[in-house]
Amino acid sequence: MDIILLGPPGSGKGTQAKMIADKYKVKHISTGDILRENVRNGTPLGNEAKKFMDAGQLVPDALLVDIIKDRLAKPDVKGGWMLDGYPRTIPQAEALEKILPALGQKIDVVLNIDVPDAELVNRLSGRRMCKCGVSYHLQFNPPKVAGKCDACGGELYHRSDDQAEAIMKRLDAYHKQTQPLIDYYTKKGIIATINGAGDIKAIFGDITKVLDKI
Ligand code: AP5
Ligand code: MG
Ligand code: ZN
Repeated sequence: MDIILLGPPGSGKGTQAKMIADKYKVKHISTGDILRENVRNGTPLGNEAKKFMDAGQLVPDALLVDIIKDRLAKPDVKGGWMLDGYPRTIPQAEALEKILPALGQKIDVVLNIDVPDAELVNRLSGRRMCKCGVSYHLQFNPPKVAGKCDACGGELYHRSDDQAEAIMKRLDAYHKQTQPLIDYYTKKGIIATINGAGDIKAIFGDITKVLDKI
């Protein structure tokens, strides 16, 4: 099964992705996690991407298309994948459509996680992340031991783009550049919208209702 997770920053893509990957055995591919790893390792891609990420802007399409092309060609995704954070623009979606047939892959469903802006700001300002990709929230989803990841014991950190100014810019970029994808995939008849406000497990329950039919 090949899945796209679509949704604004803070909608819970990463949170739900972990549970989906465990249950449906699909490979979780987060472009945000790939970019952050490159930033940490000081690669040329990371150095280029960092300026955009810290400013709350999207990284240029060409860089993302190269990342996805390489990633989807690796053998570990043959059993199915879930893209979290890609595509984020119409040109990225069009590029994906050109890449997939040669790999013998196709998008089965686009899960559109819908959450109002006011709640997104609360979620992002209280978020703490682990290098392994798991996210927590000081209030809504705290780790068992303060400051430590439940999954790997790693030290939690505050993402540099989870500051008020960058959060507002990310929301703006979402509405201008990413939201048009809802229309794009609705026309293709492969989108399912999930109400992303409420209890994390209840939202996962709604997602399983969609995925179990595929
Ligand atoms: P990326 O890392 O993808 O960030 P994002 O889209 O802004 O999404 P987030 O990771 O912030 O949110 P999420 O939906 O994963 O929410 P989470 O589960 O953590 O991208 C970062 C940057 O990289 C971009 O800004 C851009 O610069 C660049 N980039 C990446 N991909 C790109 C692309 N394709 N093109 C161009 N640039 C790209 O949850 C958020 C918080 O809420 C957590 O604290 C969590 O514990 C909590 N929470 C989750 N669910 C609930 C719930 N139901 N109730 C209460 N709290 C909840
Ligand atoms: Mg995320
Ligand atoms: Zn961890």
